Amino acid sequence: MKDLNTTAEIKGAAHQDLKHDSAIKQVQGRADYTDDIAEPAGTLHAYLGVSTVAHANIRGMDLSRVRAAPGVVDVLTADDIPGVNDVSPTGKHDEPVFPTEKVEFHGQPLFAVIAESRDAARRAAELADVDYEVLPHALDAISARDAGMPMVTDPLKLERGDVAAGLAEAPHRLQGRVTVGGQDHMYLEGHIAFALPGEDDDVVVHCSTQHPSEAQHMVSHVLGVPSNAVVVNVRRMGGGFGGKESQMNLFCAVAALGAKKLNRPVKIRPDRDQDMTATGKRHDFVIDYDLGFDGEGRIQAVDSQFAARCGYSSDLSGPVTDRALFHADNAYFYPHVRLTSCPQKTNTVSNTAFRGFGGPQGVVAAERMIEEIAYALGKDPLEVRKANFYGEIGDGRTLTPYHQEVEDNVIGRIVEELEESADYQARRAEIIAENAKGGIIRRGIALTPVKFGISFTATWYNQAGALIHIYNDGSIHLNHGGTEMGQGLNTKVAQVVAEAFQVDFDRIKITKTTTEKVPNTSATAASSGSDLNGMAALDACEQIKTRLIKFAAESRGVAESAVSFGPSHIRIGEEVVEFAAFIREAYMARVHLSAAGFYKTPKIHWDRAAGKGRPFYYYAYGASCSEVAIDTLTGEYRVERTDILHDVGRSLNPVLDKGQVEGAFIQGMGWLTTEELWWDDAGRLRTHAPSTYKIPLASDRPRSFNVKLADWSENREMTIKRSKAVGEPPFMLGISVLEALSMAVASVADYRECPRLETPATPERVLMAVERLKAGV
Ligand code: MTE
Ligand code: MOS
Repeated sequence: MKDLNTTAEIKGAAHQDLKHDSAIKQVQGRADYTDDIAEPAGTLHAYLGVSTVAHANIRGMDLSRVRAAPGVVDVLTADDIPGVNDVSPTGKHDEPVFPTEKVEFHGQPLFAVIAESRDAARRAAELADVDYEVLPHALDAISARDAGMPMVTDPLKLERGDVAAGLAEAPHRLQGRVTVGGQDHMYLEGHIAFALPGEDDDVVVHCSTQHPSEAQHMVSHVLGVPSNAVVVNVRRMGGGFGGKESQMNLFCAVAALGAKKLNRPVKIRPDRDQDMTATGKRHDFVIDYDLGFDGEGRIQAVDSQFAARCGYSSDLSGPVTDRALFHADNAYFYPHVRLTSCPQKTNTVSNTAFRGFGGPQGVVAAERMIEEIAYALGKDPLEVRKANFYGEIGDGRTLTPYHQEVEDNVIGRIVEELEESADYQARRAEIIAENAKGGIIRRGIALTPVKFGISFTATWYNQAGALIHIYNDGSIHLNHGGTEMGQGLNTKVAQVVAEAFQVDFDRIKITKTTTEKVPNTSATAASSGSDLNGMAALDACEQIKTRLIKFAAESRGVAESAVSFGPSHIRIGEEVVEFAAFIREAYMARVHLSAAGFYKTPKIHWDRAAGKGRPFYYYAYGASCSEVAIDTLTGEYRVERTDILHDVGRSLNPVLDKGQVEGAFIQGMGWLTTEELWWDDAGRLRTHAPSTYKIPLASDRPRSFNVKLADWSENREMTIKRSKAVGEPPFMLGISVLEALSMAVASVADYRECPRLETPATPERVLMAVERLKAGV
């Protein structure tokens, strides 16, 4: 027997810093994406033909010029759909693959060209002659509501206490409106689906979706075949950010339709412009608030309405607007509260999930109200924030507007530590003194908190499966229902498995997500990927370990308690056996070395009609402090410094989690500052490429950027290794930049007035706000 170092640490266990398993491959261009899969001979390419008006009846569609174009093999329309002409993710049947009677937004897909090359398909798609009977359209939530357009789904109301009395009795009261912009996902890899026909009804679709099971079900509905005929595979995505939760359905359906009709492989990959115009984005909101507070800045009552531009169909707008309400309190206790959503139909592309899923829009509203109070009372906004934080169980300040108790509150400690480490008070005093000198460059500083609820509010989504095989050479095959979009989910789940078997990370092969191995999965979303799939994988490991321990004990005639897993070995009584050798032995003894694991989140429940329940298993917390400088002559600005303290419980992988926090902050900052979506009067999105839509560059990052995880934190719930979800919560840390800009702007009028900066706070908006305050209007 080999001499084993039984005390060595294993490489890549849970809680260790470990680089993303694909990092080197990604940098070297060796990581495979859907478009890298070798195309079999005979592969065809599809492209979408889209509408050129925002709202119309379709009188007729003449596609003869499209069909006659060079290289065109076929054109798919609604008539080619053997099953149901719908890809609505919530079963509302309001999202046709191809509409037959009505066009409801500019850029809506009407048909798909299939050609020998992508270029030929793309050129031919321009040649349709569509006869439109143009109808009036409404593009934004308020004008659509005023025009009497319906909501896309039932609104939600959250209510607690006596709002009317709370407002009436409050010593101070004010009303306002805040508009919060939308956002394009701008993933590096756009939408793509590649379908390969098989025998009988079978089809395999490789694609870039966060939700393979839903893509599978959609393809099966559209083709009119059972789900067991359809396989959906995802090795990895080049970013998803929520934009690939439901938006891939159409592309998968089109590729599969073409592949089955023509019995040839079909690939569809829109260019960036079509990706941006034909797929949904973050919802922009218009939020009206009525606010009562006391002289200390403590909120007494809040009544607010959240109108969102949902686009032409429901998509995920119901749960997105619900989540906006769930986060309209951010970290603050509202004694009397009423929050209502208005998921407004509009003649625009159907908006969808985007990191935070409506939550960030709710948090911006909360932070605006805090700002209003601070300016009204002449206080530091941080003081007002602290005065309104949720309290401790028993102090009467822990109940959310949806009647869930906040049991795990750590916001006070996070903010206190960050205030100290960022030297907030001294820097703020220095900035105020410097601004008072009246220079052209003005600075601002703000420290903002985040509390974010973890779990899908659709309770049944909180389940996951995993499949683990140990081959008889001791190598481990890991599969789970989650998808990898860059966030490091596969790395984290493999770390859990490495730790469970006490083997090095390298022994584990991470494999593509496929509906063949783990069925009925949920979207990898709501930040719950590692919580759910990590637990499911652990369950599979425990099943195999139980069998191995039993076998080991029986084979040596010792008690099961005398068997233990150590680094790359199994100790059986006094004997130490190397892992692979032991697996080989177990195989020869016919021990089952494969297991399917399962997990469902405990404790959660939600009654939407009553607006009551415990939708979230726990909360993640964080805070950020940003300092900005603005040029009051041009409105241009830069972020001088940002300090972040974020709570991920006991991190499964601190470097990956820090990467998530940094990336999310920057993405949140981009949303609130430079990323502006702009439609012309005809309803055409004119910001449909990086040339006109500005995401943050590396050079836009804070000059000094200090990111720390709260290393003392541990999830009080029994989550995977006591970690917390990290994907979305730090997105809202970007709000500190908006608030700091606001302070810099306010300085031009001596902080007497709340600048009410709308988002995105582009340089133009900052300049206009400066001018408005200077003019005193
Ligand atoms: N990080 C990267 N690099 N790319 C992404 O697309 N998506 C975010 C977040 N972090 C995303 C990301 C979103 S919207 C969510 S919900 C989570 O990752 C999903 O993954 P998780 O549940 O495994 O954290
Ligand atoms: Mo994230 S918006 O839940 O995909």
